[in-house]
Amino acid sequence: MLVLGIESSCDETAAAVISNGKMYSNVIASQIAAHSPYGGVVPEIASRKHIEAINLVLKQALNDAHVTLPEIEGIAVTRGPGLIGSLLIGLSTAKALAYALDIPFVGVNHIEGHIAAAFLAEKVPSFPFIALVVSGGHTNIYQVKNYHNFQLLGQTRDDAAGEAFDKGAKLLNLGYPGGVIIDKMSKNGNPQALVFPRAMKDSSDFSFSGLKTFLLIMLKKRGCDFAESQLPDVAASYQEAIVDVLVEKTIKAAEDNGINRIVVCGGVAANGRLREMFAAAAAARNMELFIPPVILCTDNAAMIAAIGENMLKNGRRDSLDLNAVSRWPIA
Ligand code: KG4
Ligand code: ZN
Repeated sequence: MLVLGIESSCDETAAAVISNGKMYSNVIASQIAAHSPYGGVVPEIASRKHIEAINLVLKQALNDAHVTLPEIEGIAVTRGPGLIGSLLIGLSTAKALAYALDIPFVGVNHIEGHIAAAFLAEKVPSFPFIALVVSGGHTNIYQVKNYHNFQLLGQTRDDAAGEAFDKGAKLLNLGYPGGVIIDKMSKNGNPQALVFPRAMKDSSDFSFSGLKTFLLIMLKKRGCDFAESQLPDVAASYQEAIVDVLVEKTIKAAEDNGINRIVVCGGVAANGRLREMFAAAAAARNMELFIPPVILCTDNAAMIAAIGENMLKNGRRDSLDLNAVSRWPIA
């Protein structure tokens, strides 16, 4: 089945073509330049940028896959969670195409999409596995029993890990998007230079807001910003505090549930130190680790098409009155 995926939940306009779990194209138009002056995503601007980009992105995805629109047999589109204005652009586009081509479409959960990115890699996980979904909006640990059965084992009580990266970078005046900048800067820093707090040690849940406040208080107490030469050490130490708890709690969830397969996905899974620490922790315990390639960790439409293809093949169909939803828990 030739499936077109469409993703527009936040600040990336994306389209992809997949068939039988194989990716034929994966096009992503980033809006970073448009939001950068504001230090974060401005919802109104995001919606307008999606409108401008979506037709071009769709054309590119079809061209890259060497297919024409009439050959597409089904459409998968992100229905939520995300920014409503942004979601509606992708959803309306998907509906218009499904109606015009007289083919089925399904509205897909973005978080399920992030997990499904693991199925696009060469080596795919078998069920059950533990999944850490770690992005700008989510920090959730699930036990995944099959494609559509998720048991929530832990989640953030406040900020998501991606948010902690982005807010930390903002406090340090490093720019936007913070995760990528801290990741890069940390490569020249000492992660043990400063000690940042690790919250909720004995819980399966996460809390990252205290970390950000700790950094803010540290900056206030100093009365001045860090010198440029100190920034790599600060960034590396701050990053270490985030990555440490992500790895520790995910490994513990796997051990507690007697599962030795772990999937790590979502934008923060692109982080170099996180990938390194998970690899070491999994190897030390003989656990199987699946982290999608970086391009499939951050928002993309191939992951949406991957889970959508599975739904379409199982007979799932949505009707043309389907609405977008800003919140949509999967468990
Ligand atoms: O999955 P995603 O692209 O969008 C959401 O669904 O939220 O995740 C975006 C988040 C942002 O907070 C961004 O700073 C973070 O992922 N991120 C990273 C890296 N690349 C993206 N965080 C740390 N290191 C990275 N290399
Ligand atoms: Zn995402």
